[in-house]
Amino acid sequence: MLRRLWQSAMIGLARSSSLKGWIQKNRTAAAMMQRYVAGGTAKDAVATARDLAAKGISVSLFYLGEYVETREGIDEAVREKLSAIKALSEAGLDIHVSVDPTQIGLGVSSDLMTENARVIGKALANAARGPGRHCLMLDMEDHTTVDATLALHDDLAADGVPVAVTMQAYLKRTEADLAARIRPGGMVRLVKGAFVAGPEIAHVGNAAIKENSRRLIDLMLSEKARDRGFYPVIATHDDRLQAYAIERAEANGWALDAYEFEMLFGVRTKLAETLAASGHRIRLYTPFGRDWWPYGIRRIGENPASLPLLVRSVVSG
Ligand code: FDA
Repeated sequence: MLRRLWQSAMIGLARSSSLKGWIQKNRTAAAMMQRYVAGGTAKDAVATARDLAAKGISVSLFYLGEYVETREGIDEAVREKLSAIKALSEAGLDIHVSVDPTQIGLGVSSDLMTENARVIGKALANAARGPGRHCLMLDMEDHTTVDATLALHDDLAADGVPVAVTMQAYLKRTEADLAARIRPGGMVRLVKGAFVAGPEIAHVGNAAIKENSRRLIDLMLSEKARDRGFYPVIATHDDRLQAYAIERAEANGWALDAYEFEMLFGVRTKLAETLAASGHRIRLYTPFGRDWWPYGIRRIGENPASLPLLVRSVVSG
């Protein structure tokens, strides 16, 4: 109950455009958020990606912005995704970008989102001719967007775009959605879910969500999934869940390069480095851009200990 209230409050703060406009001008708050954001441009983010690559850590670049509703904002997001693809390609790194469906048009129409996703997918497929891994990773937003996001994923996959999709352990439907993408040997990133919903459609409370995460990891790292060439991405900062995934992978004969972990840039960095040092594939979701408030407040929501620091910076800055 408390978790739901807290998360709902964070989602409300993330979507408040007046608060966003005001706080993003605050230099001290902006400086504090730099922990989670790799600069204002794709070039800045690629410089960070090079440093991480030297430590055996890969990235997925994400241009900041969600629930974009103007044509101008949508066009800008598409341009920035394309510049991220170009910058990664020129740097000889994995060409891996994350995209929120509402950034590229879902709030306007499914057709606009699909058209933009195809443009990004085509640029990615053209750029990704050399070695390295490449992927257009679809983020998953609130539960009202799941059908459209899965349909987009399936359309792009049928067209041969190297696409993957995020699925959320808090939603009850995820087990069936996941099974349907394991069968053809796709690629799915599993997260707990940054949104809230009622018990009709969602697992409620940390314990229930974590238990469902384990059930979904069982499916993702099963022998059957391995034999189908499915590629699991376990995206969490929860070291116990990571250990559980490693134990399942070892028990079912998964090679170390047949699955990966993903974490967020700036969160539990040492844990990411430890995974890399032990030979595991690890990628960091690495945002760039100036629209940092909705993303940053979600991170604060997951780490309430840093809230007083944010409030102090806003008051003093
Ligand atoms: P959990 O919140 O249980 O935290 C585990 C440990 O990490 C705790 O010790 C905690 O304190 C620490 N920790 C977690 N967050 C922290 C922070 N910000 N700062 C400091 N410490 C922190 N969600 C979604 O709905 N759709 C999506 O598309 C995505 N995409 C996505 C990609 C990737 C790569 C990741 C890692 C996460 C997402 N998420 C997401 C967010 C996800 O749903 C979830 O809200 C967060 O990852 C927090 O859950 P964890 O499983 O990490 O563990």
